[in-house]
Amino acid sequence: MNDAFRNRRGSLHCESVSLDLLARRHGTPLWVYSGGAIRGAVAEVREAFAAHRPLICYSMKANSSLAILRLMVAEGCGIEVVSGGELFRALRAGAHPDRIVFSGVGKTDDEIRAGLRAGILMFNVESEPELDAIARVARGLGRRARVEFRINPHVDAHTHRYITTGTHENKFGIDWTMAEAVYVRAARLRCLEVAGIHIHIGSQITDPLPFAAALGRVEILLDRLERRGIVLRWRNIGGGLGIAYRPGQHRLNARHVASLLHHRLAARPMGLIVEPGRFLVGEAGALVTRVIHVKRGVRKNFAIVDAGMSDLIRPCLYEAHHEIVPVQPRSGAPRRVDIVGPICESSDFLGLGRRLPPLRGGDLLAVLGAGAYGMAMSSNYNGRRRAAEVLVEGGRAMLVRRRETYLDLVRNDR
Ligand code: LLP
Repeated sequence: MNDAFRNRRGSLHCESVSLDLLARRHGTPLWVYSGGAIRGAVAEVREAFAAHRPLICYSMKANSSLAILRLMVAEGCGIEVVSGGELFRALRAGAHPDRIVFSGVGKTDDEIRAGLRAGILMFNVESEPELDAIARVARGLGRRARVEFRINPHVDAHTHRYITTGTHENKFGIDWTMAEAVYVRAARLRCLEVAGIHIHIGSQITDPLPFAAALGRVEILLDRLERRGIVLRWRNIGGGLGIAYRPGQHRLNARHVASLLHHRLAARPMGLIVEPGRFLVGEAGALVTRVIHVKRGVRKNFAIVDAGMSDLIRPCLYEAHHEIVPVQPRSGAPRRVDIVGPICESSDFLGLGRRLPPLRGGDLLAVLGAGAYGMAMSSNYNGRRRAAEVLVEGGRAMLVRRRETYLDLVRNDR
């Protein structure tokens, strides 16, 4: 696992800041992010692909906190957005429009218009009907839309079936066997600039080989397109780089992936875009939660905590594993315990059957690897207020989003 969260003198810290202190100051549940870990991860990707001078378009669906977006912009990153709302947030955070790529299978005319008006770098086009919609909206505005096609390469990324995207079964992208004809048609449309090719085969990929397989198909397609006189400027290899969720597990080695792709990437001098989300923020974040009650049952013991599936839905949705550690471990023999939330659903758990030191009401736990798809997927289910977020940078902790209030919960009701 990462070193953003470490035990110091018997108490868990984020960089040099005590989680106990942050929990007392801001309450729980609380998201805590390490700015240093995020910057380190950006550098890892940049250095791995340095030979190709990559444009790193941070996939903001992983964590769309404005503070994190600003940090990415300061690091020179672009942003990958998938909705009008994400585009709005990215621009609000100061992202350069000419470093924004817009993906998603169901962009509406309004969203396409917003992208064109903002002057984004390009759209990732996921289907022929969408191509027609972009062409129509661009014509209406008297602009040219820059596009790249997302290709579905039929490569199994060997990840959870809910987050694999590059096989026949998935709704994403244009089947790679059908793509040539689509490019040829698009190249004839004056309101479009056909600029690139895009793949994204899934998320939390821990094996570098599927990336190479997918890129192989891209190269076959590029050969065919060049024979027809269609020369592209950009190659976008998507995101999906996996991180470590369990002790002893390693995050995917970005350098290893880059070296596996190197000769193919070097063979054609095209711009390279990478779109990692989880890899940049996942290990940099923890969800800090307080034990409300410890409940003994006939067959099981439960620690009922103040965070639940409305905060972190990944365990419930994907049976995802997140390490859970006490912030200030008590001495005593470890026991098996289910860490469950207060929500009225049996699937509301953060971890099942964990061996943890003795717990008491009031103790703090940290759920690790929670920086990606944590807060971003949280909800108000069961009348719960979305938690506050703290970013630790250079030894300073800043509250970057306040906890929602009860008034926030009724604000939009009429
Ligand atoms: N690019 C595109 C087009 C994507 O659809 C995604 C993620 C990414 C990049 C970034 O993928 P990453 O580098 O983060 O793997 N909620 C799920 C993950 C869903 C990913 C959706 N697309 C989870 O919690 O595991």
